[in-house]
Amino acid sequence: MRTGTSTFNLQPPFLLKATNISHSFDYPLFENVDLSLKPKESIAIVGVSGSGKSTLLHILSTLLEPKKGNVFLFGKDIYNGTQKDILKIRRELIGIIFQSHYLFKGFSAFENIKVASLLAQKEIDKDLIESFGIKNVIYKKVTELSGGEQQRVSIARVLTKRPKIIFADEPTGNLDKKTADEVMEKVFEYIHLNDAALFLVTHDMELARKCNNVYRLDNRLLVIDN
Ligand SMILES: Nc1ncnc2c1ncn2[C@@H]1O[C@H](COP(=O)(O)OP(=O)(O)OP(=O)(O)O)[C@@H](O)[C@H]1O
Ligand SMILES: [Mg+2]
Repeated sequence: MRTGTSTFNLQPPFLLKATNISHSFDYPLFENVDLSLKPKESIAIVGVSGSGKSTLLHILSTLLEPKKGNVFLFGKDIYNGTQKDILKIRRELIGIIFQSHYLFKGFSAFENIKVASLLAQKEIDKDLIESFGIKNVIYKKVTELSGGEQQRVSIARVLTKRPKIIFADEPTGNLDKKTADEVMEKVFEYIHLNDAALFLVTHDMELARKCNNVYRLDNRLLVIDN
């Protein structure tokens, strides 16, 4: 039997380390991608539509096994480990903000956040809900919220889990600049206060530049764009 969950390394040099990642669907998307993330570190990935940014995010966040290469999360080689480890990582240690957010549509905003809090056994942070400007809509059904409100609920839901790595795919695409800045400020504050890390996919260069490093997926390679 493989490793118990006690061997997750939450204070390692790297929370995430990816080596030699290659992936293709109908045609090669990227090759030999190496990346790492330390506590308090943030990286942004930019690149034209279709260059493979979301695919890379899915690979690094346990959702898609790459054609080649290894992904280590908290010291575990996730695609050569157990399903139990992957589930534990997904449920408790990482938070994913999807490009199209997957809120439960029949539920209210509050119920969506409550589900995350129950699954991760973490308290709901009322200040967070207040600071995201969603307090007044918290008991509305998801289908009654604007796109930007849904996006803020989905970010609040992820932070409620108190993850060690946040994977965010265009998290502010539906937000006006002021709201986007305020929400992302909270995300950056969160990773600093919690020794967490951020992997951010964005088309917004101004936002990308707030990360420690910016990489571009270009011509099948991941190149630094600082
Ligand atoms: N499950 C899949 N099966 C087949 N092809 C896929 C799949 N997912 C993505 N692709 C293709 O892979 C390429 C990269 O997709 P991806 O979603 O990673 O791009 P992206 O850089 O995130 O683009 P955008 O900026 O538009 O979100 C696209 O050509 C897409 O059609
Ligand atoms: Mg995408």
